[in-house]
Amino acid sequence: MIIKKPEDITLAVLTELEGAKDPRFKEIMSSAVKHLHAFVSETKLTEQEYQKVCSTIAKVGQMTNEFHNEVVLAGGSLGLSALVCLLNNGRDTVSGEVDTTANMLGPFWRENSPMCQNGENLARGPTKGDPIFVKAWVKDRSGQPVVGATVDVWHTSSEGFYENQDPSQVDMNLRGRFTTDDQGLIEFRSVKPLGYPIPVNGPVGDLLKLQGRHNLRPAHIHFLIYKEGFKTQFSQVYSSDDPNIETDVQFGVTKSLLGNYVKHVDGSKAPAPSISGTWYSLEHTFVVDYGVASMPRAPIKGKNQGPLPEQVILRANR
Ligand SMILES: [Fe+2]
Repeated sequence: MIIKKPEDITLAVLTELEGAKDPRFKEIMSSAVKHLHAFVSETKLTEQEYQKVCSTIAKVGQMTNEFHNEVVLAGGSLGLSALVCLLNNGRDTVSGEVDTTANMLGPFWRENSPMCQNGENLARGPTKGDPIFVKAWVKDRSGQPVVGATVDVWHTSSEGFYENQDPSQVDMNLRGRFTTDDQGLIEFRSVKPLGYPIPVNGPVGDLLKLQGRHNLRPAHIHFLIYKEGFKTQFSQVYSSDDPNIETDVQFGVTKSLLGNYVKHVDGSKAPAPSISGTWYSLEHTFVVDYGVASMPRAPIKGKNQGPLPEQVILRANR
């Protein structure tokens, strides 16, 4: 096609896509082309701005390696991962509100954490922080307990580091796998996690700074629920007392995942006799859907052998 006006370009690209054999590929790419061309036309993108877009996308790729994924970080910071999750899990067709306990997997899940008995402590070595006692139920959509599901749990220390980032924590600290009992319940002891900043040394950092946004995630505990016959569920239960609960940099906090981390100040009522001061309890219920069980590819392989990474915190400035 000989181009005579800007609109001809969109038509020419869409015409070429008609030759694609995979119908889903054709659908996705045709839509992407229409939206991208409309975006360029609507904003009247200049040549300099287009060059900047290209160099930014290139840098996002160049910064991605086995230990860091700037692409995932960018998707999260633009709300894309949260949107994909909610559109693919349990949207209420009447109210349109979110009706799922599914959430993003995140970049810190490790395979093969130790199998644990209900009640075990996830602190596998000296670990500072307030004790927390967690009970989590897994149920199906009709409220029946899901028995014998494997529930993988992981979270940060009270200083905001996952064990793989932190040489002072023993291997697999604050990680473990439990099996739901005949009530669909797992329970464990650990320390209350702290929220943490996402890295800002690349294009994602620039994106946040340009908006005056902070780079913090509110404190949370990750769960991965696996049982044959059910769609594998990734989840995160957020600490409702966290100062950043409304402004998660990854837009992950949903109504169903606001965790009630209850603070107790009287150690004498704690479930373990060794506790004298402040401790926390958390109870939460996950609802899983029937479907195909499949495990994700682990985003990281092992423990960082280098020094503790520096945590750079951007303060909100707006
Ligand atoms: Fe996390």
